[in-house]
Amino acid sequence: MLQTRVNSGLDGVIVADTVMSEVDGEAGQLIVRGHAVEELVAARGFEGVAALLWEGYGTGGGDAAAVRDGLAAARERAFVLVPALLQATQGLTPVEGLRVGLGMMADSDPMPHHYLACGALPVFLAALLRAADGKPALAPDPALTTAQDLLRMIRGQRADAVFEMGLDTYLATVADHGFNASTFTARVVASTHAGLISSVLAGLCALKGPLHGGAPGPVLDMFDDIGSLDRADAWFDDAFSKGTTLMGFGHRIYKVRDPRADVLKNTVASLPQTTGRLAFAVEVEKSAIAALRRHKPGRRLDTNVEYYTALLLEALEVPRSAFTALFAVGRVAGWCAHVFEQEKGGRIIRPQSSYVGPRPAA
Ligand code: ACO
Repeated sequence: MLQTRVNSGLDGVIVADTVMSEVDGEAGQLIVRGHAVEELVAARGFEGVAALLWEGYGTGGGDAAAVRDGLAAARERAFVLVPALLQATQGLTPVEGLRVGLGMMADSDPMPHHYLACGALPVFLAALLRAADGKPALAPDPALTTAQDLLRMIRGQRADAVFEMGLDTYLATVADHGFNASTFTARVVASTHAGLISSVLAGLCALKGPLHGGAPGPVLDMFDDIGSLDRADAWFDDAFSKGTTLMGFGHRIYKVRDPRADVLKNTVASLPQTTGRLAFAVEVEKSAIAALRRHKPGRRLDTNVEYYTALLLEALEVPRSAFTALFAVGRVAGWCAHVFEQEKGGRIIRPQSSYVGPRPAA
């Protein structure tokens, strides 16, 4: 009989070397291929971060202009699938719709699959959102970046540059983040050589849970429920008495504030007419942190990326129902990078379990 000590959440278990990113949970620092996230997102934007992540691996890796062209071509190719997608996704949420869309893609497609996956998600998302409003899908514009084109395809016209920059910053900020649950899932699937599209689809499925990429919508629900600042402390005490998990707080790795929270908070501040909402969120955050200290003493719980994601996506006028799907539009670049890395050097990921069921009679 195997003697094992179970670590059900794999806390602290290191299963790979990676050149993609490092999450330093004590210092509150995220490094993406040698660059601190704060300077990286401003300098390179989403296509630049994707190019950096894919450097040495996928076609166009290292070259932001090539990545931009590749993604533009992929958006056009994905648009061909939109009628079938819309037929198959009636009544589904946006992230469920993306799940169907990736499932419709053939492994035999000759276009490089990282472009295909990264180009398809924004096209599918915009089409799904417009269909939900009874509007026809808009064809992509290959002259634009992912962020510019996604906002245009959702809204029906180009957004102001400040909004396009805001979305670009968001996509770049969330593109990669160590061995989070969805990236690990993608790597497990990649480790069986199932292919990039299947790996990315698996990553999306892991992302969609409320403990991972599904948190920002509920952050806004929490704001709605709190209503006014004078109710915040009592709201949190009540939440803890019911055992509620506060969305947008806590993290497996970060024991201090998630550095991405401030990147996104500053981005919210750069957008028009956000002053009042931002001030509200900052005060609610203080109240939440104080409540976490009161009710979970000894636990080092702080604000994570999803808190200000919620505020940013709200300011960009993205519907709440689409927040998780939009996260996938950014994170897919990281999933692809990890699939490359896994395929290049990794072995099949196959851990062990401890059998605690009955045994046959002797
Ligand atoms: N609110 C209240 N209590 C919390 C929270 C929270 N947000 N997060 C952790 N805790 C508490 C737990 O109740 C537990 O306390 P206990 O031991 O007294 O029961 C303790 O802190 C440890 O929590 P775990 O769940 O073991 O921590 P874990 O590392 O497994 O979970 C997670 C991390 C899932 C992110 C958790 O903090 C959480 O559920 N947060 C809210 C959801 C969220 O915001 N997710 C987005 C994370 S960022 C991302 O994925 C992009």
